[in-house]
Amino acid sequence: MEPPAFSDSRVKEIYDSYNFILCNSKYAINEPLETDTVEEQENTEKACRKAKAHFEEIQGKDGPLLVRQIHINFLLKQLHGLSHDYIALEGSRTWIVFWCVNGLRLLNHPIEHSLAHRIVTFLAECQSTTGGFGGSPSHVAHIATTYAAVMALASIGTEDALKVINRKTLYEFILSLKQPNGSFIMHKGGEVDIRGVYCAAAVASLTRIMDSKLFEGTPAWVISCQTYEGGFAAEPFVEAHGGYTYCGVAALAIFGKLTMMNIDKLMKWCASRQMAYEGGFQGRSNKLVDACYSFWMAAIFPIVDYELNNLDDKRYDFGGIFEPEGLQWYLLELCQNLERGGIRDKPEKNPDAYHTCYGLAGLSVAQHYSMREKETVVGGKENTVEQINPLYNIVCQYHQLAFQYFEKQPGIVVAHPPVAHP
Ligand code: FPP
Ligand code: ZN
Repeated sequence: MEPPAFSDSRVKEIYDSYNFILCNSKYAINEPLETDTVEEQENTEKACRKAKAHFEEIQGKDGPLLVRQIHINFLLKQLHGLSHDYIALEGSRTWIVFWCVNGLRLLNHPIEHSLAHRIVTFLAECQSTTGGFGGSPSHVAHIATTYAAVMALASIGTEDALKVINRKTLYEFILSLKQPNGSFIMHKGGEVDIRGVYCAAAVASLTRIMDSKLFEGTPAWVISCQTYEGGFAAEPFVEAHGGYTYCGVAALAIFGKLTMMNIDKLMKWCASRQMAYEGGFQGRSNKLVDACYSFWMAAIFPIVDYELNNLDDKRYDFGGIFEPEGLQWYLLELCQNLERGGIRDKPEKNPDAYHTCYGLAGLSVAQHYSMREKETVVGGKENTVEQINPLYNIVCQYHQLAFQYFEKQPGIVVAHPPVAHP
């Protein structure tokens, strides 16, 4: 199988239909300028050619094959090594658990009882008595590690896991982070950031503790983070970035307020983040491709497509706005570490749990939400990973289980029930 050519006609088609300038390698390189940006892009493309040759040496021309079992071994090793290898990441242990559990679920690997029990016990120890979860036991509660812990528990999916979450103190913790202008700080005494809004919205909607008081004024604050480029920034008046754009868009979708943003500008900006040469996404204008944006960027398309076409009378047709096959080729051919397992940011980088989780989640988006008439799994159906819920970044099956479990719990009113993706 040959990778799809990112032909000039395809680039022109996107260019013509959206009438904007693609800020990516193709155009950067054609500039007669010698800048660090152009040089770094050229080096990345050179590294991609080298990685492609290495890949073909190992897998021949029949691939690309997802080396599923090698990735499973890599993720299990990261989980088991958590206690000794990660001293520098002590504050992010709940995150590492989430990345590994979600990666294993995407690869459809069963998590055996004793491992699930260890994970649930560890996460329970990270829960603060005043609500929310820290990065390690007895660490201060933080809204990002709270998101990681709640999504990891949901992805374990057993009653023992789900009942760890204290919804009453969780509600109080989230409310304590809320600012008068509708934004959220990341932790007590911490900074305001659009990630805070997304993490609060994802956690509150999944556990069904969302009421109108919690997010009053928040959609308007999120909108104030949409920049002139069309993407969203961490806070008003700074640079649009893929990670923050995901947070802004997914939060607005959870609130049922996507139509408040400038949809056209957003979609143009997102489409132009897919690299013409590599097929993966960059996170901001004139920066390099990185596998983690395979989720942060690509998940935005199905969120906007699904939510708008379900909420609004108007029909939006985003078909063809991104190249799902190009993204799959980037991940399979250029980002897999075939020997040690794991997914890397880009060729010549080391794989890690973060990029493995977001690379596999991006692969799932490209396989299951191509927004074309027919979904294509590059390399054949053995490469299929489980379907992700793009609003929460957990596998659909586990999202549904958690959602049903919390639906039966005594309630705090839910203002806008989150839309369950198919
Ligand atoms: C830029 O790094 C990256 C950031 C400033 C953070 C990105 C934000 C996220 C990934 C979203 C986090 C979401 C949750 C749910 C907590 P860089 O300058 O090294 O990368 P770049 O060159 O690709 O811009
Ligand atoms: Zn990355």
